[in-house]
Amino acid sequence: MRTKKIKQASSGVNNSSFVTKENNIIKSDKPVHLEIGSGKGQFIYGLATLHQDNLYVALEKDINVAYRIVQKQEEQPLNNLSIINDDALHLEKYFEFHSISTLYLNFSDPWPKTRHHKRRLTFPTFLKLYKQYLTKDGIIELRTDHLELFNDSIDYFESEGFIITELSYDSPVGESISEYETKKRLLGPIYSLKAKLEA
Ligand SMILES: C[S@@+](CC[C@H](N)C(=O)[O-])C[C@H]1O[C@@H](n2cnc3c(N)ncnc32)[C@H](O)[C@@H]1O
Repeated sequence: MRTKKIKQASSGVNNSSFVTKENNIIKSDKPVHLEIGSGKGQFIYGLATLHQDNLYVALEKDINVAYRIVQKQEEQPLNNLSIINDDALHLEKYFEFHSISTLYLNFSDPWPKTRHHKRRLTFPTFLKLYKQYLTKDGIIELRTDHLELFNDSIDYFESEGFIITELSYDSPVGESISEYETKKRLLGPIYSLKAKLEA
């Protein structure tokens, strides 16, 4: 995704109390819901508004994009939404093992070329990582408009010992909708699944 550089993004993100800093491990009595690659945060901000009883964490590696979530939080703060500006590869800097009850992957970059598949956020190396952080009953929810990514992801989940508990090739709008889903829904079907680890 090409992103616009924002001059104040770095100071905005680094000085915001809504941003969880490196090596500050998130501890919560509430179930922790993490969105990886949360973009400008519309989806997770919407969910956090609806469910005060959960803690929501938006993780976005692009500082210019993460800054958009910071801006939303500064304008209308929610006390159950934290922001992380980092790569998904560095979950250990923010989470304890088995502390995440739901992990959302919305419209992750599809990386269609075979040599780039390992960058997909559902690639087995990422699923192996997520497994360490999910609670025993934890689930991963995936939404995309990219059929090849979706079908390959089903194989990735199954190869890593996940059970697909829900699957749709024409998913209705959920409780909250991301920026990408808002756009992609106009062009065709949305594919979605939920996966959990085998007991
Ligand atoms: C196509 S956008 C989708 C944004 C949002 N989820 C939505 O549905 O509107 C994918 C986002 O994932 C972020 N991203 C990609 N790989 C990432 C990674 N390894 N760690 C954190 N964020 C990542 C990108 O910076 C980008 O903002």
